[in-house]
Amino acid sequence: MQRQNPTNIHQAFIFWHRSTPILSSSAGISARETKSAMAAPLLLDLLCCLTVFWLLLLPSHSADPDPLQDFCVANLSASVSLNGFPCKPASEVTSDDFFFDGFTKEGNTTNPFGSFLRPANVLTFPALNTLGIAMNRVDIAPGGINPPHSHPRASEAGVVIQGKLLVGFVTTNNVFYSKVLTAGQMFVVPRGLVHFQLNVGDGNALAYTAFNSHLPGAAVLPLNLFASSIPNDVLTKTFQVDADIIDTIKSKFKS
Ligand code: GLV
Ligand code: MN
Repeated sequence: MQRQNPTNIHQAFIFWHRSTPILSSSAGISARETKSAMAAPLLLDLLCCLTVFWLLLLPSHSADPDPLQDFCVANLSASVSLNGFPCKPASEVTSDDFFFDGFTKEGNTTNPFGSFLRPANVLTFPALNTLGIAMNRVDIAPGGINPPHSHPRASEAGVVIQGKLLVGFVTTNNVFYSKVLTAGQMFVVPRGLVHFQLNVGDGNALAYTAFNSHLPGAAVLPLNLFASSIPNDVLTKTFQVDADIIDTIKSKFKS
C-alpha cells in the first residue's frame, strides 16, 4: 500500500497560512491602485483553482490509474492491503467528504528549513482516492527553503501566490533550470526530478502546488540521506569526506 512515512519532515514542516490581501499603506495611493491590489489575491486564488481544474480535465494524463467509478472515497483504516485504498461504502459518503479546509491557515515556518508544507493528498483528503490529483500549500519564511526533493509518482505544477521564490530543478543529466518567481507566476517540475523553492524575498512566501497523483510521495534528499539509517560508510564514500563531517550533518537532522 502506498503510504507516506508520517515521520517524514517534508510533511512535518507542514502548517498553514491564509494569504491576506496585500494593500499598500501609502496614503497617496489611488483608488484604481487600491482596487487592483484588492483584486490581485482573488486572481491568484483563481489561478490556483484553474491549475487544479486543468489537472481534473486531463485524467488520461494522470500518473495514477484512471478511476473506474464516479468516486471512491478512501477507507484509510481498511485492513486489506492493495495498490491504493479501498472505497468507503457509497451509502456512508457525505458532502463533507468532498471538501477540505486544510489550506486555510498559515504554515508555521519556525523550523530549521524555515518552510512548511501542508499536503492535500489521499491520506489527508480521502476523496482524492483514485482521482490522480493532489495539492500542497507551501509556506516559506524569508531565507527559508523547501529543500531539494523529488516526487516519485507525479509531476508538479505550482503557482506563487505571495512573495519571491527561486524555483529550480535538476535533470537526470545534472542540468539545472531555475527562475525567480513572484505572485501569479507558475512553474512545473517533471516527474521524479529533484527540485526546491528558496524564499529570496523580504517577506513570507506562499505557493500552491498540484500533482497528477493522489499520493505523489516526496523523497527529501537531506532526510533520505542523513536522517535515515544509511550506514556512515556509504555516505563517507559517496561524498568523499571524513566520518566527522557526516556525523555533523547527521546531527542537524536528529529529532
Ligand atoms: C513543492 O515542491 C511541493 O512539493 O509542494
Ligand atoms: Mn515538490
